[in-house]
Amino acid sequence: MTLRVGMLTSGGDCQGLNSAMRGVAKRLYEADQNTEIIGFLDGFYGLMNGAYREMKSADFSGILATGGTILGTSRQPFKLLETPLHPDAAPNPTRKEAMIRTYRDLKLDALVILGGNGTHKTANALFQAGLNIITLPKTIDNDLYETDSTFGFQSAVNIATEVIDGIHSTATSHGRVFIIEIMGHKVGWLTLHAGIAGGADVILIPEIPYEPMAIVKAIRKREAQKKPFSIIAIAEGAKSKAEASLSKSEYAARISKERHLSVAYRLWAVLNELTVKEIRCVVPGHFQRGGSPSPYDRVLTTALGVKAGDYILDKKFGFMMALRNNEISAVPLDKVAHRMKAIPKDHYLIDAARKTGIYFGDEKII
Ligand code: F6P
Repeated sequence: MTLRVGMLTSGGDCQGLNSAMRGVAKRLYEADQNTEIIGFLDGFYGLMNGAYREMKSADFSGILATGGTILGTSRQPFKLLETPLHPDAAPNPTRKEAMIRTYRDLKLDALVILGGNGTHKTANALFQAGLNIITLPKTIDNDLYETDSTFGFQSAVNIATEVIDGIHSTATSHGRVFIIEIMGHKVGWLTLHAGIAGGADVILIPEIPYEPMAIVKAIRKREAQKKPFSIIAIAEGAKSKAEASLSKSEYAARISKERHLSVAYRLWAVLNELTVKEIRCVVPGHFQRGGSPSPYDRVLTTALGVKAGDYILDKKFGFMMALRNNEISAVPLDKVAHRMKAIPKDHYLIDAARKTGIYFGDEKII
């Protein structure tokens, strides 16, 4: 029997979304060239509102190396899932009911969802509600549990590393301090990897609150070692110890009062008070999420996509495809949803970084 399979990309985009969908589609077409694929537009928005495209095999050609997502994406918060789709209209299904209705109306046999942390909460809820869900782990943040790596992560590490490499030479020429802001509001995987790869001198991540004075001392220590420049790689969500001790609302109030453009500028203001060095900020921002997937991510997404196709053909649902111990495997959605993979403080990369002289802003420097 010919299958009808839905597909959507949800949350912030990243490199590898198109190559992952291509992997799924090629696997399914290889099994049955008449497979019907429905592409929902802009993530769960398309599923809720019945906005979709009937895809053709040609739609999945020529997209292996393209960035972004051919289906579009949007952020649809999980906390709104049980709220009315159109608060002022009747009949009034919840967003979840509307998603289930679209799936049933289109007589889908399965729905493939590509997304990160927030997306997996909704994907799991839809599976619990009886839909045949398969997911693929996307995010440059690498914060999904049960997979050694998400796709998009390595591409973003490559870009962030190139940024640090590029800054290195000008920082050296001028003997300046540079603060480079790397994406990652909740976790520091990207900053840690790019920081080590780019030879950052200080790495600040949400998992390790820092003391501003420790950074100043690290800069001075480097100067004493005849290294007048320093590179600080800071994750978007890094906090000082004082900031980390605040409640969520106190922190939000402080941030909005200070009105800095982003974390790099906040740190800039603090360090400027404490040191006489010239400090510059670099914020590559969404550039880290853009452009072509790296060869690693093209390979990973192809393998993950094919595995997703295998699971659909075998009628096995409720799984996220994952990379575990160099094998592509599948993990139950409820082991992934509602969890966030932060960097353990005793992670081997933090240890390696410290032992190669990288500071995290929490050391006692005399
Ligand atoms: O989750 C991926 C991510 O790129 C984070 O690293 C970043 O903090 C966030 O998305 C940015 O979100 P937005 O695209 O909504 O600006």
